[in-house]
Parts: sequence; structure tokens; C-alpha cells
Amino acid sequence: MSNLTERHKKLERNVTLLSVAAFVVVAIGGIVEIAPLFWIDNTIEKVEGVRPYTPLEQAGRDIYVREGCYTCHSQMIRPFRDEVERYGHYSLAAESMYDHPFQWGSKRTGPDLARVGGRYSDEWHVQHMIDPRSVVPESIMPGYAFLAERDLEVGDPAARLTALRRVGVPYTDRDIERAEDDLKAQANPEADADDMAERYPKAQIRDYDGKPKRLTEMDALVAYLQMLGTLVNVNDAAAQEELATQKGR
Ligand code: HEC
Repeated sequence: MSNLTERHKKLERNVTLLSVAAFVVVAIGGIVEIAPLFWIDNTIEKVEGVRPYTPLEQAGRDIYVREGCYTCHSQMIRPFRDEVERYGHYSLAAESMYDHPFQWGSKRTGPDLARVGGRYSDEWHVQHMIDPRSVVPESIMPGYAFLAERDLEVGDPAARLTALRRVGVPYTDRDIERAEDDLKAQANPEADADDMAERYPKAQIRDYDGKPKRLTEMDALVAYLQMLGTLVNVNDAAAQEELATQKGR
């Protein structure tokens, strides 16, 4: 038997020695992965178009989380051909940089929703939420008709944004000051929403649930669904990213 095998035998038969050696080997792998993170400022490439959620979108997102939509839906399109052909351009890290908590998900009973924004009309979403089988006969999704009947009660929208700002979402003082008005203005076609639209580019301002006089949980949820994946011009952003990588930045 060669000398090397002899030495390895010694290592294998001594539990303490084997544990220490295994720890050292694993630690090297860990250091290689973790150490660089201490020297770079950011792990997410900045991408044009990404902005914090409007108060109404955020309220819709909170309902999405409350109702456990993530137990059946993911929000991350992986860079594989079958996914990209079905759902659209793969998700960029920056697109979920203001998500607390993120909704990438690990289970798809229903389709991925990362780019569902704009794919259907508001009416379709409302009808689908009230009675999924009325638009998709083979659907196994539960109905959420009560959302259309419940007034949206966020409590204190300014406090919600303040909490998010504490964990790094760049809301401005004005965003926070105007949170309650912005929330109402986005779903009210008669409100003056110019100021809001300026602070939240690409915000879609309209009544979502077909009841312009009422602000319901359905308004908020549909507002959220309709903006998913719409902020970034993905093909441009991906091209820029590619270019930056080639330049060795
Ligand atoms: C029990 C699993 C389940 C839950 C929970 C669930 N869904 Fe679904 N969802 C599905 C399935 C299955 C489909 C595909 C059939 C259909 O369109 O109804 C679907 C489809 C959808 C679609 C259409 C997507 C597309 O690209 O066609 C949207 C939007 C949607 N769900 C939103 C939601 C929201 C919002 C919630 C939470 C309020 C939710 N779902 C909860 C299973 C679920």
C-alpha cells in the first residue's frame, strides 16, 4: 500500500483528526464564498426603473402576503429557456431589492407572477379573484371574493413606509408625509395625482375594481399585480449588465 493511502487510513480512523480536517476543508470553502462580501459595497447591480412601491401597491402586497398567495405562486423567473418562454425575461436581482419580505417562493401550484403586470385587464383580475373558475374552468385556485367587499384599511400608511425606510427602502420625507393621500389618489381617477406620479414613475393611476367610489382591498391587490415586473425595461437592463460584466467592472 502506498504511503499516501497509509496516511489517509490514519486520518479516517481517528474521529477527532477527521473532524478537524473536515472542518478546515469546509472552512476554506466558506471563506472563499463569504469573505469577498465584506469588501464589496453591494451585491445587487443598480438597474434603472426600480423604485419603492407606492403606498397602494405596498398595501396590495401586504394583502398578498396575508392571504398566503406565496404558498402557490413564486415571483422569480429563472434563467432557463422553458421559464423565459412561458413567463418572460428572467428576474433581475434589483427587481426585488425593495421587497420586504421577498416573494421569490419555492412552490408553484399556480404560475409565476413576477411579470404578470399588464398581462390581463383589471376586469379579468377582479373576476378571477372573485371566482377563478369563471375565467379558467380547470383552475384549482381558491376564490377571494371578500376582497371586493372589504374597505382597504391600512391603519397608518406613513408608519408602514417609515418601517420600510428603516430597513433600507429609500422613501423620501415627502413620500412619507403624503403616504395617506398617495394611497387614496392612486385608485381615484378624479384625484390630482400629478405630484404622486412624479415621485413614483410608472405608477398606474386608476380605479381598479370597477367601484370608483370605494377603496377596497381588491383595488390594492390588483394595483400590486398590475405593476409586477413592469418597472424595468428588462432587455435594456440585461444588456447593460452584460456590457458591465464584459468590461470586467
Ligand atoms: C391553492 C393554490 C393557490 C393559491 C393559494 C392562490 N393561487 Fe393564484 N393560481 C393558482 C393556480 C393553480 C392558477 C392557474 C389557474 C388560474 O389561472 O386560475 C393561479 C392563477 C393565478 C393568476 C393568473 C396568473 C397567470 O399568469 O395566468 C393570478 C394573477 C393569481 N393566481 C393570483 C393569486 C393571488 C393574488 C392569490 C392570493 C390572494 C392567489 N393567486 C392564491 C393557485 C393558487
